[in-house]
Amino acid sequence: MSLIQEINKRRTFAIISHPDAGKTTLTEKLLLFGGAIQIAGAVKSNKIKKHATSDFMDIERQRGISVATSVMAFEYRDLKINILDTPGHKDFAEDTYRTLTAVDSVIVVIDVAKGVEEQTEKLVEVCRMRNTPIIVFINKLDREGKDAFDLLDEVELKLGLTVRPLSWPIGMGQTFKGVYNLYERKLVLFRPHGKQVEEEIIEIRDLSDPRLEKEVGPGPAKELRDEVHTIEEVYPPFEREVYLNGEVSPVFFGSAVNNFGVKELLDCFVEVAPPPQPRPAEERPVKPDEDKFSGFVFKIHANMDPKHRDRIAFMRICSGIFQRNTNYYHVRQARSLKFSNPTSFMADKKTVIDEAFPGDVVGLYDSGNFKIGDALSEGEPLHFKGIPSFSPEQFRYVNNADPMKSKQLNKGLDELMDEGVAQMFVRESDGRKIIGTVGALQFDVIQYRLENEYGAKCSYEPVNLYKACWVSCKDQAAFKEFLSRRRRDIAKDTEDNLVFLAESAWMLKMAQENHPEVEFHFTSEF
Ligand code: G4P
Repeated sequence: MSLIQEINKRRTFAIISHPDAGKTTLTEKLLLFGGAIQIAGAVKSNKIKKHATSDFMDIERQRGISVATSVMAFEYRDLKINILDTPGHKDFAEDTYRTLTAVDSVIVVIDVAKGVEEQTEKLVEVCRMRNTPIIVFINKLDREGKDAFDLLDEVELKLGLTVRPLSWPIGMGQTFKGVYNLYERKLVLFRPHGKQVEEEIIEIRDLSDPRLEKEVGPGPAKELRDEVHTIEEVYPPFEREVYLNGEVSPVFFGSAVNNFGVKELLDCFVEVAPPPQPRPAEERPVKPDEDKFSGFVFKIHANMDPKHRDRIAFMRICSGIFQRNTNYYHVRQARSLKFSNPTSFMADKKTVIDEAFPGDVVGLYDSGNFKIGDALSEGEPLHFKGIPSFSPEQFRYVNNADPMKSKQLNKGLDELMDEGVAQMFVRESDGRKIIGTVGALQFDVIQYRLENEYGAKCSYEPVNLYKACWVSCKDQAAFKEFLSRRRRDIAKDTEDNLVFLAESAWMLKMAQENHPEVEFHFTSEF
């Protein structure tokens, strides 16, 4: 098969949702369709249960599961579909943001009763920044929930998406009768038999067909006709191009746990979702069909077994063909590396692969060469964009609690920062180290992993900070003046970029007002 054919065969996406909306269940149903797993329950939920915020065993379990389910590949209708897993817990949101740089589209799962929740808002915002095409799946229609039109309005308002329903529910909860598939013009009936649910599909191209009454009853039939009429008046017809530009999101309704409406979603997904897309690099956009190989690391996972220090770096292939045992150029380190055991992950199976194509994700065994965002190429010094660090929200001083182990502590902290567990800033005025995270759980993770993997001990001390933001300025003299006047509030990140530490929203505002020539950035990429 040619490179172009291999590219066109691939669809790489992520499912995102607020915890409990049904991401794991939907993933599992998709894998069942693709034959990648045979039984329900094979995909473990990777979420840390809500109440166990500092249960270390849960953290470890989460790490184990998320390696196994990092990428789940399956074949469906001659396509190779890669689902990239994202952590459910909000404290790991930054992992999810980074994973979203490695996909070409996403499916957002929303609980019909809960509507749009906080975590979904944040994740969709990241997708919208990059115009990633989004399909919405409204789940749990077997339960009572919000009115479908109200939900669409909520999705538009809270997520800033323009929607176009491609299926429409008939009833809900106790009275749920099925969905009308507006994309293929078919009636899909929900037929529960005890614990089993059957999906019966009847082709009804014209909704005035009297079979509709027979199947769902006169009341629901009339309601469906009226609602579909409204949809067709209110929403413009679905156009693939507009979806691919990230400007409109098709919406499906169903019930993942009952495997209802999932096939409709998948059938539409394989027809409309984009194949591997070009990736922006600082130098130029990198197209998938270029002859030469390139890829970037978007996630690093440490080995669960503390005796083996190796890690797995997950790399998305951006262009060309990646081959086993071939020398590639590690751009940041300016040296060549080759990989004898590149791995693909499939549900619970790991396999060594000989080659991989754009859109694929390979796991590379690493003994400390990689950092998040690193690029490999055939010699060109490429720097892929869109893998920024986000301004953290929680801060603590980190201290060495065992003076005999300072070497181990420094090594551990450096490696954990490379993995993207948190961010570390060193204050210029006193050299103190400050850890910044998006969630409180990471502080426990760091302490636990330093002790278990590096034999080092750390303690934390509160530090009164509101935000850390990256600073830059075109006017060198003005920048120098700013840096010396605010010396106490200046730190460096692990890449030696200058960061302003603001104690409060007010302090940040004052600094911005007093130094209009200085730019304050809330992501590390500017
Ligand atoms: P997540 O990955 O987004 O966090 O959600 P997950 O799939 O784990 O689903 C959360 C809960 O919602 C699970 O129940 C799951 O069975 C249920 N669920 C998923 N889809 C549907 C649906 O279509 N209808 C209904 N009624 N429930 C659904 P749980 O009790 O938390 O876990 P479990 O014991 O069932 O595994």
